[in-house]
Amino acid sequence: MLELQNLTKTFNPGTVNEKTALDGLNLTVNDGDFITIVGSNGAGKSTLFNAVAGVFLVDSGRIMLDDQNITFTPEYKRSKYIGRLFQDPLKGTAPHMTIEENLALAFLRAGETKPFSRITRKDREKFRDELKRLDMGLEDRMNTAVGTLSGGQRQALTLLMATIVPPRLLLLDEHTAALDPKAAEKIMALTNEIIERNHTTCLMVTHNLHQAISTGNRTLMMSDGDIILDLKDDQRKGLTIEDLMRKFREGAGEALDDDRILLSD
Ligand SMILES: Nc1ncnc2c1ncn2[C@@H]1O[C@H](COP(=O)(O)OP(=O)(O)OP(=O)(O)O)[C@@H](O)[C@H]1O
Ligand SMILES: [Mg+2]
Repeated sequence: MLELQNLTKTFNPGTVNEKTALDGLNLTVNDGDFITIVGSNGAGKSTLFNAVAGVFLVDSGRIMLDDQNITFTPEYKRSKYIGRLFQDPLKGTAPHMTIEENLALAFLRAGETKPFSRITRKDREKFRDELKRLDMGLEDRMNTAVGTLSGGQRQALTLLMATIVPPRLLLLDEHTAALDPKAAEKIMALTNEIIERNHTTCLMVTHNLHQAISTGNRTLMMSDGDIILDLKDDQRKGLTIEDLMRKFREGAGEALDDDRILLSD
């Protein structure tokens, strides 16, 4: 459903700061794939997500989504069908607006644009039901400003906002990395549940190697702007963290070097 062909992106070309962050990257993602991505700092993982989301245009290559060429589609249009979460729970929500207002914004933005569309009583009930599923008591705090929520609560809300209208593609960039272990576990459980319920196709960057091999159906390893290893279904079965580290070393010619790396959960 997503096809990346020969993607290239060089930052600051022709200067001393020149950096090729995507180096002819190719990837075919199948409908319903849940792919985890690991790699060293600066490997190009976030840049890959930025390219797919349309934060910038790639220098060369092609991005196809559901057989449509979206290489030159602007970011705001892609955001209708591509949902995104970041490491920082502060990104993606408006702190001075209430939980309900944030959900309403996300709901209206991702839905069919009709002029003068507004939130109905039925929509509000849907928000309440969805908040209830988070099991954080947020359904009783719909008029609370989002800025007063904890990091975990806020990330749960961001996850809900990104999926309240199920996106075709969900991009998670270390979305549990800034949370304490308990909150991270909770957000990961919610993520799995939502993805399973909606059969969402998802790419997730993680530095938690246990999570990388135990979540989803496929694991990619990135190094120097390219995918050096693509492990699917059977190839991941029985794989240990040590195997993963060794495979990375063999593929990249150097050890996996991530300052946030977690070798266990
Ligand atoms: N907007 C930008 N301007 C200039 N250089 C950039 C920009 N974005 C990324 N880079 C560079 O591109 C390379 C890849 O960065 P990227 O953020 O994609 O790495 P990453 O794999 O996400 O790393 P990390 O695990 O640390 O998050 C890095 O060398 C980075 O400094
Ligand atoms: Mg990154």
